[in-house]
Amino acid sequence: MKTVKRRNFLKIFASIGIFGTMAGQTAYALVKSFFPKARYEPPQRFKVGSAYQFTDGPNFLAKHRIFVIKEGNKFHALSSVCTHLGCNVTFNKLAKTKNVTVRGKEIEEKWEFNCACHGSKFYGDGTPYTGPAPTPLPAYEVSVSAVDRKLIVDKNIVVDSGQRFTV
Ligand code: FES
Repeated sequence: MKTVKRRNFLKIFASIGIFGTMAGQTAYALVKSFFPKARYEPPQRFKVGSAYQFTDGPNFLAKHRIFVIKEGNKFHALSSVCTHLGCNVTFNKLAKTKNVTVRGKEIEEKWEFNCACHGSKFYGDGTPYTGPAPTPLPAYEVSVSAVDRKLIVDKNIVVDSGQRFTV
């Protein structure tokens, strides 16, 4: 039977200890990297205020890059981020309402959205009709907090642009 000398045994034991520790630390760092302590994105679901604080029509909230649109007691939220290259669009109140056909449906428009960067224009429901913007401005779910009755916009949930939340 082959015997391991004391010196060799200690070398093997030390090597296992060093490599075991390194492997353990690497595994720990890898697992920890899946759970970062810092979030670099702002929350996508947030309160925007009480219904009475909004004026009729689009209300631009620069911090969240959305329009909260009030029509009487109905609300919806539309992204202000142009779907071309991400500039903020501005809303343009029309001097008089006009009827347009959007995706086979006739809608009465009181405002439109324009992007100053490369000239995209969007109907009032967010559908682009001229310029390079490839897709509509997304509409987000609006709800109300059961705690303080403030409106909540959830940018994680894209809804049909015709959906309205009634307060
Ligand atoms: S970023 Fe709006 S048209 Fe280019």
